[in-house]
Amino acid sequence: MFPITTVIIFLSSLFILPSGADVTGSISPLNPGAVPLAVRSPYLSCWLAQGGGNALNTAWTTMYTGTILGWVGYVKVDGKTFKFLGNDGKVPVDQAVQKNLQITSTQSTFTLTAGSVDLTVNFLSPVEPDNLVNHSFPFSYLAVTATSNDGQSHSVQVYTDISAEWVTGNVSQIVSWSTSAGDMITHQAQLVDQTPFVEVGDRIQYGSVYYATSNTQGTTYQSGEDEVVRSQFVNNTTLLNTQDTQFRAVSDRWPVFGMAHDLGQVSSTSAPVVWSVGHVRDPAVEYIVQGGFQNRSLYFWSQYLNISDAISAFHDDYPPALMRANSFDQQVKRDAQAISNDYADLVALSIRQSFAASEITISKNGDGIFDTSDVLMFLKEISSDGDVSTVDVIFPTWPLYLYTSPALGKYTLLPLFEYQATGQYSNQWSIHDLGDRSYPKAVGHNDGKDEAMPVEECGNMLIMTLSYTQRTGDKSLISTYYSLLDQWAQFLITDSLIPANQLSTDNFARSLTNQTNLAIKGIIGIKAMSEIASLMGDGARSSNYSSIASSYVDQFMGLAMSSDSKHLTLNYGNETSWGLSYNLYADKLLGTNLFPDSLYQTQTSWYSNLVNEFGLPLDTRNTFTLSGWEIWTAAIVKSTSLRDHLIFSVHQYAANGNSDRPFTDWYDTKDGKSILFTARPVVGAHLAFVSYSYQAFL
Ligand SMILES: *[C@@H]1O[C@H](CO)[C@@H](O)[C@H](O)[C@H]1NC(C)=O
Ligand SMILES: *[C@@H]1O[C@H](CO)[C@@H](O)[C@H](O)[C@H]1NC(C)=O
Ligand SMILES: *[C@@H]1O[C@H](CO)[C@@H](O)[C@H](O)[C@H]1NC(C)=O
Ligand SMILES: *[C@@H]1O[C@H](CO)[C@@H](O)[C@H](O)[C@H]1NC(C)=O
Ligand SMILES: *[C@@H]1O[C@H](CO)[C@@H](O)[C@H](O)[C@H]1NC(C)=O
Ligand SMILES: *[C@@H]1O[C@H](CO)[C@@H](O)[C@H](O)[C@H]1NC(C)=O
Ligand SMILES: *[C@@H]1O[C@H](CO)[C@@H](O)[C@H](O)[C@H]1NC(C)=O
Ligand SMILES: *[C@@H]1O[C@H](CO)[C@@H](O)[C@H](O)[C@H]1NC(C)=O
Ligand SMILES: *[C@@H]1O[C@H](CO)[C@@H](O)[C@H](O)[C@H]1NC(C)=O
Repeated sequence: MFPITTVIIFLSSLFILPSGADVTGSISPLNPGAVPLAVRSPYLSCWLAQGGGNALNTAWTTMYTGTILGWVGYVKVDGKTFKFLGNDGKVPVDQAVQKNLQITSTQSTFTLTAGSVDLTVNFLSPVEPDNLVNHSFPFSYLAVTATSNDGQSHSVQVYTDISAEWVTGNVSQIVSWSTSAGDMITHQAQLVDQTPFVEVGDRIQYGSVYYATSNTQGTTYQSGEDEVVRSQFVNNTTLLNTQDTQFRAVSDRWPVFGMAHDLGQVSSTSAPVVWSVGHVRDPAVEYIVQGGFQNRSLYFWSQYLNISDAISAFHDDYPPALMRANSFDQQVKRDAQAISNDYADLVALSIRQSFAASEITISKNGDGIFDTSDVLMFLKEISSDGDVSTVDVIFPTWPLYLYTSPALGKYTLLPLFEYQATGQYSNQWSIHDLGDRSYPKAVGHNDGKDEAMPVEECGNMLIMTLSYTQRTGDKSLISTYYSLLDQWAQFLITDSLIPANQLSTDNFARSLTNQTNLAIKGIIGIKAMSEIASLMGDGARSSNYSSIASSYVDQFMGLAMSSDSKHLTLNYGNETSWGLSYNLYADKLLGTNLFPDSLYQTQTSWYSNLVNEFGLPLDTRNTFTLSGWEIWTAAIVKSTSLRDHLIFSVHQYAANGNSDRPFTDWYDTKDGKSILFTARPVVGAHLAFVSYSYQAFL
């Protein structure tokens, strides 16, 4: 086999896919399982499956679940129609030819040739964590620019529509819709039978989808049967400005919501024509408080009286939003390229996906006014479970918050703290989640029967809380929830050195007694409480916990190390076992340096010879791994060549053309095939290197 350092030279940042039925031109910087198009929230999540390579106009766009979200785009060039978006075959038109696709942290931008005109099709899903109004607004942009490619002037019109599939995954369900035409043309569609806070097949059963554009000169709209509306544009270039009023099932003469712009004569490059698409519901989240439940709204409502004002503000903001996105993308790329190009590619794929699992909410105070001092962020454990605010899903996501905005980390921890501080949760350890497969119902677990991961979640809460406090200097979490934090630390003092048979976050690998990696987390958690106590001026507790943590490390080294001192075991006493000791990342993140330097060296040497084609296995029970833990392991090894090789392995997996789903973090290290867990927020773990002042060789 190749020595690690020579493998690296085979990487490239520009993939030319083999030509075949679906010629998609070049893709930069990598060919992912699915290309993010409109990815903002658990219910606005539209992707283009890739696998072997689909063009924007050879496949239907889909929800992360795989169900179709009909989205069609045509361009007319001198009277001839080309399709550039979607897979509709009912209306015969020419195919634009995809030349190029570029993916950044916030944008996926396609270039297609339609006869004498090249189209740039920009899908922008903003990421603006410093502006909670913007960040919480669940809308994305589609912007189309036409450029003459032969130096001549051409007559150009652009059409797009969405189908009612954006409302529900069950095409037998009945939808209603309406269109308003003022300064904006806005189509709105929703289920006729709405059920607040209820999901079916990961699709929310209330709220509305909006599709909007500016009502400029020559702009027309129409709702109606797919074939009728689309052929109206193809036959006639303008739509009829009419509405179909026969509300019906999604698949009954497939209603679509179209709009067409006339760009007139284009001799060089046109101004962009922009569409905004979003899914809005209010209230967004149901949340358990003392003695009942509270309805919470998305943060942006604090700024707008009605949805049309909000859509107009978002829509008109496209040019500056694009500039902000470009500078964000460039900053992320620069920071990540300090590690490697492979690493920067993974980060670019991870940010939208991770944020789109969360929603930022506020409550109303007694007189019905929104209370912007009461900000809580909720996270959906997409795909693996559907739980609300799972602690061991927030934990891997944590580096994303540290990198972009630690305040978002605080808003994500707060609902967990608030609920447990009410005393309604009955266990002495930290809760696992705020709602069992019930997003967006954060109804808690008063019966204490959540999925128990006692050491895992206590350690996670202590580590994340200290990390937030260190980063911001804001002591509000540690002062308000000091006794809860201490309760969890005391639990760890009793239970983490010799962890009982229990699950860790990697529950799909099943439970085990004396898990080495779990003990690491628990001991770091105790040390974290020592630091928290110190920050609170509680010196006695701090030095007590600090010496307990140190003494546990000494005992741990005896229990967890193989007898030949070559590696940590997976579980105490099992000589042949080993696993990724990724929890050591927390010791570096917090700067606690609790575990001896020699341990990192030992693990580095051990792992060096065990890397499969797509990375290190999670542990000796299986050949699978999780991409996030692969990256965290890369962040703790004392060898930049091993580090880069691990990153390279994950990149190989991410771009190998086997998957047609959004980044799927659970995969096999031997065959590079995805297992499960698609579109999860945990890809925030990939930001491990940019979330703190990582130093190579520690
Ligand atoms: C889909 O919706 C139809 C109409 O409401 C209903 O009869 C059917 O049971 C639903 N199917 C599923 C799988 O939910
Ligand atoms: C468009 O033209 C085709 C072919 O003549 C015809 O079948 C179709 O009904 C027309 N569509 C509309 C909306 O007029
Ligand atoms: C297109 O539709 C408009 C409005 O209905 C009509 O006036 C015009 O004659 C139609 N043109 C063609 C070519 O069908
Ligand atoms: C919360 O919202 C739901 C759905 O709109 C409504 O039925 C319920 O009465 C509201 N609850 C409170 C406490 O306002
Ligand atoms: C939305 O609110 C604005 C005031 O901010 C008002 O002018 C407008 O008429 C409202 N629109 C709708 C559709 O209610
Ligand atoms: C986003 O922020 C910009 C700049 O503050 C603002 O102009 C714009 O209206 C905001 N967008 C939304 C949807 O509020
Ligand atoms: C766990 O480790 C402790 C300390 O080595 C040992 O006493 C105990 O028997 C182990 N438990 C199991 C189930 O192996
Ligand atoms: C240190 O903390 C442990 C766990 O709470 C407690 O049992 C012990 O008494 C403490 N020791 C001192 C000296 O306070
Ligand atoms: C030791 O670990 C290996 C691999 O994880 C496992 O197959 C085996 O069953 C374990 N043995 C014991 C005694 O737990």
